[in-house]
Amino acid sequence: MSKPTAALVFLIAAFSYFLFSPSPKPHYYHTLFLSSPFSDNASIASNLRTLTRRPHVAGSLANAEAASHVLSSFASSSLKPRVAAYKVSLTYPVHRSLSLTPTESSKSIITFSLEQEHLGDNPYADEVTPTFHAYAKSGDVSGPAAYANYGRVEDFAGLNVSGAVVVARYGKIYRGDIVRNAYEAGAVGVVIYTDERDYGGEECFPESRWMPPSGVQVGTVYNGLGDPTTPGWASVDGCERLSEEEVELRGDSPGIPSLPISAADAEVILKSVVGGVGPGPGILNLSYVGKTVLAEIENVIGVIEGGEEPDRYVILGNHRDAWTFGAVDPNSGTAVLLEIAQRLDKLQKRGWKPRRTIILCNWDAEEYALIGSTEWVEDNRQMLASRAVAYLNADCAVSGPGFRASATPQLDDLIKQVAKEVRDPDNTTQSIYESWIRSNNSGVIGRLGSGASDYASFVQHVGVPVVDMLFGGGYPVYHSMYDDFTWMEKFGDPMFHRHVAIASVLGMVALRLADDEFLPFNYTSYASELKKSAEDLEKEMLGHSIDISPLIKSIQDLSTAAQEINIEKEEGVKGALRVRELNDRLMMAERALTDRDGLSGRTWYKHLVYGPSKYDDYGSKSFPGVDDAIDNAKRVKTKASWEHVQHEMWRVSRAIRHASLVLKEAQFFTKAHY
Ligand SMILES: *[C@@H]1O[C@H](CO)[C@@H](O)[C@H](O)[C@H]1NC(C)=O
Ligand SMILES: *[C@@H]1O[C@H](CO)[C@@H](O)[C@H](O)[C@H]1NC(C)=O
Ligand SMILES: *[C@@H]1O[C@H](CO)[C@@H](O)[C@H](O)[C@H]1NC(C)=O
Ligand SMILES: *[C@@H]1O[C@H](CO)[C@@H](O)[C@H](O)[C@H]1NC(C)=O
Ligand SMILES: *[C@@H]1O[C@H](CO)[C@@H](O)[C@H](O)[C@H]1NC(C)=O
Ligand SMILES: *[C@@H]1O[C@H](CO)[C@@H](O)[C@H](O)[C@H]1NC(C)=O
Repeated sequence: MSKPTAALVFLIAAFSYFLFSPSPKPHYYHTLFLSSPFSDNASIASNLRTLTRRPHVAGSLANAEAASHVLSSFASSSLKPRVAAYKVSLTYPVHRSLSLTPTESSKSIITFSLEQEHLGDNPYADEVTPTFHAYAKSGDVSGPAAYANYGRVEDFAGLNVSGAVVVARYGKIYRGDIVRNAYEAGAVGVVIYTDERDYGGEECFPESRWMPPSGVQVGTVYNGLGDPTTPGWASVDGCERLSEEEVELRGDSPGIPSLPISAADAEVILKSVVGGVGPGPGILNLSYVGKTVLAEIENVIGVIEGGEEPDRYVILGNHRDAWTFGAVDPNSGTAVLLEIAQRLDKLQKRGWKPRRTIILCNWDAEEYALIGSTEWVEDNRQMLASRAVAYLNADCAVSGPGFRASATPQLDDLIKQVAKEVRDPDNTTQSIYESWIRSNNSGVIGRLGSGASDYASFVQHVGVPVVDMLFGGGYPVYHSMYDDFTWMEKFGDPMFHRHVAIASVLGMVALRLADDEFLPFNYTSYASELKKSAEDLEKEMLGHSIDISPLIKSIQDLSTAAQEINIEKEEGVKGALRVRELNDRLMMAERALTDRDGLSGRTWYKHLVYGPSKYDDYGSKSFPGVDDAIDNAKRVKTKASWEHVQHEMWRVSRAIRHASLVLKEAQFFTKAHY
């Protein structure tokens, strides 16, 4: 049967079902959601083109225009959108200079232009913000250049960078941690470059997907989340704010100036460094002046109210602000969000109404410090803690082939189920799931402890289950001026079918969470995942007198409680209240993994199971509190420091026990009561 005939038969069947069945089941609408007449690659491409026409950094006029585009698209998808605005502290570059005196005796100073070459034919290339690090410290520094590889803690071992300007390459850890590590090692300044070994290929953009030699990855070097002047509370108009001095005292701001530079400039600098490491004899002179502005940012929020449980929220989000044009980061995700909005609108026109409320969020100022989502979560913390079912994130949604997902583990099963229902856009003979398990990544679901995107506050501050998914992965022109529509159209997703596919998977996960009578959470996976992490920890603790049994015991309890609630679901409880009660246990179990005191020394992070690594904000850790304590104990090697490891082990064990108690049927709620 040819494709059009199949589509026609499907439509007739769907239409007759619609005519003769008074209220179609959610499954009928879910099938429609995935059907080809519902998906629209042309509209995705057109939205992406509009969103990425001009560079739109947070706080700019162009970004406000992009916000209006999202607002009007949401409105035309009958989403009743509103803007949640915040006043936040952003920084922009005012003056940058970098020069090199190649040898101590040399008088010829090389001054770098710090410009990315205009390649391709983007008419708005001139509007790109000069390359800089957001929240970088202003200052004039000079010192011998010293190469510190990826700038990890271990890269500084055996290196004396005291008084030096560190040259590090991007690629392994968060750039804010590179600057912090350099500062702690005694450096006076840092330049970070994109090495061809990590981001280059034989040819470069616009001929191929690779980063040109003049390309620069900009980005933030702030080490906290949210507006630096309102740590832990929302930046609403007229609110309490920290002064600049108070912000500095908190220690999340970089201690030394830094600049991002190109591979071409780094090559020149590294030629002046003895043995490729230095320090010196080349002397770098780095000067940076930034300005801090209290700017208005806009989160655009659209809502589809649930029919039966309007106070249960399934939240989908993506940010809009971009360092440059943002075709991959983040507007592939915005285009996907708008596609989902459109498909949900089509479903509503056919009579569908979700059981629970679906909220679509388009965040602002993510690039600076996940600011838009963090302020919104801080603003709505208690409301979200009592009503949010899950948060689904799309950021760099498409940059190439190959599906990847990260999630809190109770969502693993659902992601796999949905991935089985959608064809792989790069090999339509098989499902995304089949391609995924055959890929290098072999169907492994990542964990979301890191602070790399807008899911962070949801899971790490409030304990909301989260998912993040994408096609592709790391891409070479990340945060450079070449991340534009041309790059996407030529290399990222030439037919926009990967965009369609990720919208299908993400949208379907949202639909299942919004419509299923019983929340599709499986905590058995959570328990197995925790067991694996605990076993890793046990190996690490060999030879130290740390008792890991409380942790093992709490995980066993969680596993039992998870099996019991799965059986309750299978047996099918009856009655709206009883169903609601069971779902509330499923929804609230993740919350129990948070602790009001948070991680020691990083109290904003409330989740005791998933959090960022202390030395790499991009690195996700299981049991981050235990991990911090182990790091410390290995360094200071005192009895008290090892006792602290044991204390952290007890804390996480108690949290996991709380989660299993939440999952369990309450004893005074025995079945006899119903
Ligand atoms: C590190 O280098 C600085 C500056 O060159 C020097 O003063 C200091 O003595 C060195 N430290 C060590 C431990 O070698
Ligand atoms: C570094 O360069 C600035 C100009 O950009 C200049 O004012 C300053 O004197 C230089 N510092 C050193 C130590 O060469
Ligand atoms: C596409 O999928 C089929 C299995 O359905 C597999 O045999 C084939 O190798 C795949 N093609 C590519 C290019 O990966
Ligand atoms: C998969 O892994 C192999 C072996 O490590 C590597 O050569 C290949 O490039 C990888 N493929 C992708 C698509 O990453
Ligand atoms: C959408 O997909 C069709 C093929 O299914 C293709 O012909 C068309 O060029 C695509 N549209 C865009 C904008 O890429
Ligand atoms: C829950 O996950 C486990 C594996 O972790 C699996 O064996 C079980 O079938 C799943 N249960 C449901 C109801 O999906």
